[in-house]
Amino acid sequence: MTSYVTGAAGFIGSHLVDRLLAAGQRVIGVDNFVLGRKANLAQSLKNPNFIFQELDVNNFEAALAFVKQQGAIDAVWHMAANSDIQAGSREPDIDLRLTFLTTFNTIKLTEALKIPQMAFASSSAIYGDFPGVLREDAGPLFPISTYGAMKLASEGVLSAALERFLKRLWIFRFPNVVGSRATHGAIYDFIQKLRRNPAELEVLGDGSQEKPYLHVSELIGAMLHLFQKAQLPLNYFNIAPTGEGTTVRFMAETTVRIVSPKAKIRYTGGSKGWVGDVPKFAYSIDKLKSTGWSPQMSSNAAVELAIRENAECAS
Ligand SMILES: NC(=O)c1ccc[n+]([C@@H]2O[C@H](COP(=O)([O-])OP(=O)(O)OC[C@H]3O[C@@H](n4cnc5c(N)ncnc54)[C@H](O)[C@@H]3O)[C@@H](O)[C@H]2O)c1
Repeated sequence: MTSYVTGAAGFIGSHLVDRLLAAGQRVIGVDNFVLGRKANLAQSLKNPNFIFQELDVNNFEAALAFVKQQGAIDAVWHMAANSDIQAGSREPDIDLRLTFLTTFNTIKLTEALKIPQMAFASSSAIYGDFPGVLREDAGPLFPISTYGAMKLASEGVLSAALERFLKRLWIFRFPNVVGSRATHGAIYDFIQKLRRNPAELEVLGDGSQEKPYLHVSELIGAMLHLFQKAQLPLNYFNIAPTGEGTTVRFMAETTVRIVSPKAKIRYTGGSKGWVGDVPKFAYSIDKLKSTGWSPQMSSNAAVELAIRENAECAS
């Protein structure tokens, strides 16, 4: 089995590469390092089954030429995107190019090389500030960030590709994902801020924002499980931990306790962290559980583990 992974040097992409290689696959990876890091691939680059190229997937001709050289591919895992939602809210072009056009160009490549299957990293952001528990059949959907809008548009254009040529498609709607090698996110930001100023942690919002956080190891476990088990032409799933989400207050207090116990926390106030932030959401994962997969870690446990992992990397 050979997989093509876009965004391979990113946080989630690099963990996915590790797991695909551990399962004995040949993996072709690309990343342009706009957000990802070569250090995330330190282990996988030693594996002869991993072929990596620094490349912008929106450079269609270059991507096609490189991937074509690698022989037959069984599945595409499209992980490349702009993962910095705040940057996309300030400058929406970023999400057009990195979140939507990367999907569009990767579909073109998939069609040109007659690759039958695609798996896509979607997001809770497609649901916008939807009231109540988020089920996969919730709607109508009105995202409130350009990032969410471009993820929803990506789901749409992938569905159209299924009608045209794809044999099978998996759409994975991630919650907030945490763990080692993170390139962004609240935990990453808190640790960076405390390294710069160990006496104070500034937190955007009032600390009441509450979301489900899943450890990256569990996210990849769920995706690989669904890739095997969900065999309809179109497979779309929320992936999240069970139980309550985690508040920003818990995350800030836990980061301070682990990284800089004497620091004072200063909240900037307001119920939202930034423009486009969905302050609270809860996922239904009944559909995921019905396939026989359940997460083991609570959201708070995943957050605490990720803080320890990221603090270790930063020190
Ligand atoms: N981390 C989360 O909490 C989360 C939540 C929901 C969805 N997602 C999605 O999961 C995927 C992986 O996210 P992540 O957290 O690992 O982010 P990340 O930024 O670490 O990884 C994305 C990777 O894509 C690469 N990339 C971006 N544009 C590219 C281009 N034009 N050509 C080649 N490479 C390009 C970046 O350099 C980066 O390495 C993304 O699609 C993201 O939108 C992540």
